[in-house]
Amino acid sequence: MKAPAMPHPLLDPRRLALLHALGLDTAWVQRDALDPAELAALLPAGPGAPAARGAAPARSPRGAVEARGAEVVPPAPQAAPQAPPAVHAAAARPLAHGAPAPMNEQRLQQVRALDWEPLQALAHDCRACKLGSMRHRAVFGVGHPQARVMVVGEAPGAEEDRLGEPFVGAAGKLLDNMLRACGLSRAGEDPARTVYIANVIKCRPPGNRNPEPDEIAQCLPILQRQIELVRPRLLLALGRFAAQALTGSAEPIGRLRQRAWDWHGTPLVVSYHPAYLLRTPQDKAKAWADLCLAQDLLEGRGA
Ligand code: URA
Repeated sequence: MKAPAMPHPLLDPRRLALLHALGLDTAWVQRDALDPAELAALLPAGPGAPAARGAAPARSPRGAVEARGAEVVPPAPQAAPQAPPAVHAAAARPLAHGAPAPMNEQRLQQVRALDWEPLQALAHDCRACKLGSMRHRAVFGVGHPQARVMVVGEAPGAEEDRLGEPFVGAAGKLLDNMLRACGLSRAGEDPARTVYIANVIKCRPPGNRNPEPDEIAQCLPILQRQIELVRPRLLLALGRFAAQALTGSAEPIGRLRQRAWDWHGTPLVVSYHPAYLLRTPQDKAKAWADLCLAQDLLEGRGA
């Protein structure tokens, strides 16, 4: 009896789903392995599905992954790490000591005892910094209160300010796609499949400017309390502000990603912000590698 054909390792459904969610399956082809029919069968059908995309990929004897079309994508970073890096416990700091993210200790004590409802009420009524009088709605968070995965973003934008929910604009759509590729979503009953999403800052900075240190200092205790209440198995910090706030490091995001951080005993992975990825699609492959690391840690394959 003939053994069933084994798909090429680069056609691993998890890799393909992530590439698809990141919009990279049009740009990345495995030159010596990709059979468009096989790829089409693995990926969800839709406007971007490869079946509708015409020409077969170029092939190369070396089997390198190659960029195609207008979007030039660098070779895959040594993505999907086989052996994730060591846990960087020493560098991770309690929020209270993170240099780039000053903490308001008095406020921390104030919120530490609060459960979900009073914490949310505090955020909605908050006037602790100037953003409180400029926002339409405070954006507290969304998702499962006992989620296994908690995503931390930066601050609400215009759409979030209008609707009161994090990540509902264009960046949010990319985030939803990335989560879906990992079998996760923001809505659902199952804490293993539903994330919780919150931002470092709960109120929109005018004109989408960067959050200022005093604003971060007032808001961080609320985020810290949210994390304590959710007690996720994995934290995913997206963008510089979330990454620096949770790691306590002032290093740029490129140096914080691809490491397994420890936030008070909770594994933490840092990656690029979806809004940055929309502007810089060539870095989507790195975000994909970060999601693979996050999945590895979640599934106990980390250091
Ligand atoms: N960017 C963020 O970091 N958070 C949001 O909620 C929306 C955009």
